[in-house]
Amino acid sequence: MTDQHFYEPALGHGLAHDPLNAIVAPRPIGWVSTLSPAGVANLAPYSFFNVFNYTPPLIGFSSQGWKDSVANAQASGEFVWNLATRPQAEAMNASSAPVPPEVDEFELAGLGKLPARLVAPPRVAGSPVQFECKVTQIIRLTTKEGRELSQWLVMGEAVGIHIDRALIEEGVYQTAKARPILRGGGPADYFEITQDRLFHMRRPG
Ligand SMILES: Cc1cc2nc3c(=O)[nH]c(=O)nc-3n(C[C@H](O)[C@H](O)[C@H](O)COP(=O)(O)O)c2cc1C
Repeated sequence: MTDQHFYEPALGHGLAHDPLNAIVAPRPIGWVSTLSPAGVANLAPYSFFNVFNYTPPLIGFSSQGWKDSVANAQASGEFVWNLATRPQAEAMNASSAPVPPEVDEFELAGLGKLPARLVAPPRVAGSPVQFECKVTQIIRLTTKEGRELSQWLVMGEAVGIHIDRALIEEGVYQTAKARPILRGGGPADYFEITQDRLFHMRRPG
C-alpha cells in the first residue's frame, strides 16, 4: 500500500465510483440550444465543455453518443451557448431529459426563448450571457490506437455575444455576480461560484 491510488483506466479504477469527473471538477456547463431540421428547438447541458481560444472565441462541447444537439449542430452549422446560473439550475437539469427530437426542451423546462441575431437557434430567456456560435469542427474522438469512439467534440466560433449589462461594472465582467453553476462529480454534485471564493494571483514576468 502506498499513499497514492494508482490505476490504469483501461483496466478499471478499482473504486466505488469512477473519480474522473469528480477530479476534473467543477466544470462549466455548456447549455446548448440548437434547431432541428424540422424547426424544433432543442436545449441540453454538456459539462464536457470549455473555451479553447480567445481570438476568435472558440468553444466546444463533447457528446457521449450522437445526441440531438450534435445532429442539429451538424445539420444547421449553428448553436447557441447559454450561461447556466443558480436561478435556472433546476430548469437546466430538466432540459437534460432524454426525450425525442420532436420535443422542445425549452417548453419541457418551462423556459422562454429569445431570438438570436446572427444564428437561428433561440437563446434561453433569463440566462444572463449567451454566445451565438457557428460550427467550426465536429471531431469524432478516438482512442490512442485510432479506434473511433461514439463520442463527438463539437467546436464553434462565437460570432455574437450577449451580456446582461448588470454583470458589467466599469467595463469589467463580474463572474460571480452571474451566480454561474458548475458540475461536480457523482450523480448530483454542483457548485455555485460566489464572490467570497475569489483570490488574486498574477503571472510571473
Ligand atoms: C449538468 C449536466 C451535464 C451533462 N454533460 C453531458 C456531457 O458533457 N456530454 C453528454 O453527452 N451528455 C451530458 N449530459 C446529458 C445530456 O444533457 C442528455 O443526454 C441530454 O438528453 C442530451 O440532449 P440532446 O439529445 O437534446 O442533445 C449532461 C447532463 C447534465 C444534467
